[in-house]
Amino acid sequence: METLEIKSETTTTDFLPLNGTDYIELYVGNAKQAAHFYKTAFGFQSLAYAGPETGVKDRVSYVLAQNKVRLMLTSPLHSNSPIAEHHKKHGDGVKVLALWVDDAYDAFEQTTKRGGKPFMQPTTITDANGEVRLSGIHTYGDVVHVFVERKNYKGVFMPGFVKWESTYNPPPAGLLHVDHCVGNVDWNQMNPRVKFYEEVMGFRNILSFDDKDISTEYSALMSKVMSNGNGFVKFPINEPAEGKKKSQVEEYLEFYEGEGTQHIAIATADIVSTVKELMARGVEFLKVPSTYYDDLLDRVGPIEEDIEPLKELGILVDRDDEGYLLQLFTKPVEDRPTMFYEIIQRKGAKSFGKGNFKALFEAIEREQELRGNL
Ligand code: FE2
Repeated sequence: METLEIKSETTTTDFLPLNGTDYIELYVGNAKQAAHFYKTAFGFQSLAYAGPETGVKDRVSYVLAQNKVRLMLTSPLHSNSPIAEHHKKHGDGVKVLALWVDDAYDAFEQTTKRGGKPFMQPTTITDANGEVRLSGIHTYGDVVHVFVERKNYKGVFMPGFVKWESTYNPPPAGLLHVDHCVGNVDWNQMNPRVKFYEEVMGFRNILSFDDKDISTEYSALMSKVMSNGNGFVKFPINEPAEGKKKSQVEEYLEFYEGEGTQHIAIATADIVSTVKELMARGVEFLKVPSTYYDDLLDRVGPIEEDIEPLKELGILVDRDDEGYLLQLFTKPVEDRPTMFYEIIQRKGAKSFGKGNFKALFEAIEREQELRGNL
């Protein structure tokens, strides 16, 4: 079990400086209804809108925000559109992991000259509030990274969008910022993808898990965590591993019909109140057996939280050399068993909850069993 390693910092200059995640765009079947769900269930606030009323003829996009997390929900208006093709194949899922940069033209130049496959040529869009510069490259599956430069923009989101005024505004739930976004890739594709993030984007592999770390009686996976230079952007990459039965990553690949984003982890400063709120609003979470809590303090040492509320809500705890973290995973948020969310509160720990993998995967397998996919 000694495969977890935190590699030392490198001192090379960062050719792709990132300020963080700018927004995450999901292609969905019905953006209007999905937006309602994210407002009601997760406490996102209405931010911006683009569609036929704003001169966009082929799609509608709703942008929602909660603190630093911005989600864009996009649906096609016609069947003969790449968005409709994407949705037909994958169902609801992540199309764009947009990254906030100071220079979108340079980000394109730096990544494409290192082998990045262009998705969007550098483009400047303007309106009365200034300009936003964009560019983009492909990553795993049909997912792309769009580089967003907004230092000369004062508007609500970006040109092409209008402020979305809504009379329905449920309160936020304490979600603060994107902590990490995990990609599921095909058999034997983890290392090529790791190489892509290293060579094309200048990321580092900060943690590795092999199938001995992450396996239960039935399923196994391997994972490598990629981080950009300042650690603001982290993309763990999962690959299935041989197990007795079908692993959760295989189930994802089968139902997503290819590689894609498995989960988005969002940070909170108070996981007990956030999870309580989300549950009351109908968000469904994975449940570990209550025996998980019997020897919790023996495993993770002293923590500031009372055990009782953690147990009641099913919140998981793990510790590394630098501190501990609390986390909880939702069930998939669409009909296909594909993408889900993680709610995470870090108290010093910089890792990803390895100590919880076994209990968690057994919980996932119980759900797979119910779906007949184990
Ligand atoms: Fe995670």
